Amino acid sequence: MDHQNLSEADPEVHKALKNEIERQESESLEMIASENFVPKQVLQAQGSVLTNKYAEGYPGKRYYAGCEHHDKIENLARERACKIFNADHANVQPHSGSQANFAAYFSQLDAGDKILGPVLSHGGHLTHGHGVNFSGDLFDFETYGINEETERFEKRDILEAAREHDPDLIVCGYSAYPREIDFEMFREVADEVNALLMCDIAHISGLVATGEHPNPFPECDIVTTTTHKSIRGARGGMILCKEEYAEDVDSAVFPYSQGGPLMHQIAGKAVCFKEAMKPEFKEYSEQIVKNTQALVEGLRKEGIRMVSGGSDNHLVLVDLREEEITGKEAEELLEKANIVVNKNAVPYDPEPPMVTSGIRIGTPALTTRGMSEEELREIGAMIGKLVKNPEDRDLAEQISETVSKLLDEFPLYEDSEVEF
Ligand SMILES: Cc1ncc(COP(=O)(O)O)c(C=O)c1O
Repeated sequence: MDHQNLSEADPEVHKALKNEIERQESESLEMIASENFVPKQVLQAQGSVLTNKYAEGYPGKRYYAGCEHHDKIENLARERACKIFNADHANVQPHSGSQANFAAYFSQLDAGDKILGPVLSHGGHLTHGHGVNFSGDLFDFETYGINEETERFEKRDILEAAREHDPDLIVCGYSAYPREIDFEMFREVADEVNALLMCDIAHISGLVATGEHPNPFPECDIVTTTTHKSIRGARGGMILCKEEYAEDVDSAVFPYSQGGPLMHQIAGKAVCFKEAMKPEFKEYSEQIVKNTQALVEGLRKEGIRMVSGGSDNHLVLVDLREEEITGKEAEELLEKANIVVNKNAVPYDPEPPMVTSGIRIGTPALTTRGMSEEELREIGAMIGKLVKNPEDRDLAEQISETVSKLLDEFPLYEDSEVEF
């Protein structure tokens, strides 16, 4: 086999990769709520020879020989996940959060069964019943919405929707909900209509891991998550469940919906779970919440309205309906000043999904860089000023300079950690 450095073997890919390192390191203030930066030890596991092996099946029950070391790694990932989330069983094989949701639904339901999930523009994810996604196509999805006055999910609204639709399963857990999820309330509703309760903690799993957000067990029956957002690990998905659902969950992942597991990613998940059990990760997670509070203060000082008035977790949803700018325009304006956020619908948004009246801003990635309240307060104020004065070029220039200084002050990776 002809081994070469990537730079020699494929200069085009190498150059794009180097440019991306540069973009992450020193060109943008990363505030997309679903993104984070993984530590070197996770990158190492992901870029390892584990990618060479087929390990279809589960530890101790593989379809191929030679899986001894893979069994060890997958068992470590499963045991750590169960410990962190207080779950009876973990399946760490889903390739992504979407695959995890696919398998979780089919572990308990048949195509055509009824699921009650959140309205997409009220914080839900595509896999919670959108028509363009398998979920909306294969299941009979009905929705519950955010209360227009409190801008929170309220028991009376969810109960009313549950009584009306009599679902087999209720989904909670969101992509853009800045408030704590009340699992006891969801359990009461699910019990009332005799439905299973599933929570998708993709966004908040890092906070759940350290107790900054309540744990969905024992209230929820099945819990799905991604492993690359606030928990800061390898890109992928996972399903956690109570013992009685374990066998069905495993067979819904393999052989029902996937083939060979991505063992290098599973190793990355195992490593990130080990990190998540350390006291440093608890500090990190606490800092995410403090930083979001500081971001809220900075935005509020500039007179910016936020959905529900603030946040309990790692993100805020800015409501631009009172401003002279759409979500799309705000996203573009901020990107020019090197602040990366995403446009996002706000509940009861009058604008179409590709335009929107909101932006979603998250703090996990900047917290990983080491920024704290002072910086996040300043960043909140800069975002607020910019969306209030979209035509002010001097202001944009000034903010872009401050962003560059912040990026220099809080470096991300040493060259030796990501060099090829
Ligand atoms: C709540 C929620 N569930 C599931 C997913 C899907 O994860 P993936 O992109 O890994 O398929 C996301 C992704 O953003 C999400 O926010």
